[in-house]
Amino acid sequence: MRLDVVTIFPEYLEPLNVSLVGKARARGQLDVRVHDLRSFTHDRHHTVDDTPYGGGPGMVMKPEPWGEALDSILASGEAERPARPVLVVPTPSGRPFTQALAVELAERPWLIFAPARYEGIDRRVIEEYGEHLEVHEVSIGDYVLAGGEAAVLVITEAVARLLPGVLGNAESHRDDSFAPGAMADLLEGPVYTKPPEWRGRGIPEVLVSGHHGKVARWRRDEAFRRTSVNRPDLIERCDPAALDKHDRKTLVELGWQELPEGGFGRSDRAVEE
Ligand code: ADE
Repeated sequence: MRLDVVTIFPEYLEPLNVSLVGKARARGQLDVRVHDLRSFTHDRHHTVDDTPYGGGPGMVMKPEPWGEALDSILASGEAERPARPVLVVPTPSGRPFTQALAVELAERPWLIFAPARYEGIDRRVIEEYGEHLEVHEVSIGDYVLAGGEAAVLVITEAVARLLPGVLGNAESHRDDSFAPGAMADLLEGPVYTKPPEWRGRGIPEVLVSGHHGKVARWRRDEAFRRTSVNRPDLIERCDPAALDKHDRKTLVELGWQELPEGGFGRSDRAVEE
C-alpha cells in the first residue's frame, strides 16, 4: 500500500517510522511518503494560509499549494500505478472514522492524506479533487485537535494493522472490538498473562480450566459486561439475531430488559415508561 501525506509539519509524522507501521515500511509492505506543503508555495514566506472570506476568526489554508501538491503526487503515481488513490481529509466535521472504514481503506492500494491546520482547507480543493477521486472527510472523534496530523497517525495505524502480513498473528484482529464477525459490536473483555498471582491478585479460574467452550463463554459474558458499562448504545443497537439464549440471560443479569422485538433496552428506562 502506498500512503502520501501532505502537511506543514512533516516531523509530526515521525511516529510512522516506529512500531508496527515502521516495521511494515521497513519490510516494504507500506510505501509512506511525507510531503511538505510549504515546498509547493512560491512566495518568500512560504505562505499556506490567508484570512477567511466572510470574516471570522482564524485562517484558512489557501487552495494553490494544495492543488500543486496533490497534482504532483497524482502525477508521480500515474507512471507507477494506474489505480486511483483515495483522498482522506481528516476534519472534525467529517464522518466518524470506524473499524468498518478502516477495513474499507485497507483494501485500497493508495491513500493520500490531506491534514489541515488552522480553520481548514479552502472548500474548492475538496470539490476539485472530489470530481476525480473518492474523497473521505473523516473525524476520529467528537473533539477538536489543533490539526489533522494526529488523526493521520490514528487512521494509518488502524489501517496498517489490517494489511496482510503486518500483524504477527493472522488471527489477532478477528476478535477486535468492532471487528465484523463473532464478537461483532461488543467491546473486548479483560485479558491476563503470567504470573498467575500478582500483588495478591489471581486470575479468573476458568482461564486455566483448559475448557475451551467455557473460556469462550466467559469471554463473551465479559464482553457484554464491559460493553454494557462503557458503550450501552452498542447493546441497544445490537442485532437480536446475533444473541443466543445465554447472551439474553447475561444481559438480563446486567440489568437489561428484553424488548418485544427481541432487542434489549435499559430496564431503568422501561420502568420509567
Ligand atoms: N482535525 C481536528 N480535529 C479532528 C478530529 N476530531 N478528527 C479528524 N481531524 C481533526
